[in-house]
Amino acid sequence: MDELIKAMKIAYSTEFAFYLKAHFFHFNVEGSDFLEYHDLFGKIYEEVLDSIDPFGENIRKLGSYTPASFSRLSMLSQIEDEAQVPPKEAMVEELLVDSGKIVKVLKLVYDLAEREGKHGLSNFLAERMDAHDKHAWMLRSSLK
Ligand SMILES: [Fe+2]
Repeated sequence: MDELIKAMKIAYSTEFAFYLKAHFFHFNVEGSDFLEYHDLFGKIYEEVLDSIDPFGENIRKLGSYTPASFSRLSMLSQIEDEAQVPPKEAMVEELLVDSGKIVKVLKLVYDLAEREGKHGLSNFLAERMDAHDKHAWMLRSSLK
């Protein structure tokens, strides 16, 4: 169970970091097709933001507390921080790479949840993986 809780905290922190990055890209993107990218990043950050609350509640259901500070989130997150404002295509590529990393993290937690017989939780995690697959599809399509 400890392993599952630890993995959940890593996944939660990674989702949080991804949400922040997508939201900052939503604000900061520039170009003649600004609205297109602004909306794409908007759709993504809103979806991920909605998942933060159930993610945290799932950690509480396991009897633990959520990571609750920027420093802790940043320590546990599995995606790179972006302190600059990259060009829009680089933003898309970065979120695409991050989506792949998140799906891998989520799959690991999914397997642990299944092993512990926490099928409600693994169902939630499967939905998160599906949501990130959808984000990856939208990001990939916008690069063509
Ligand atoms: Fe906005």
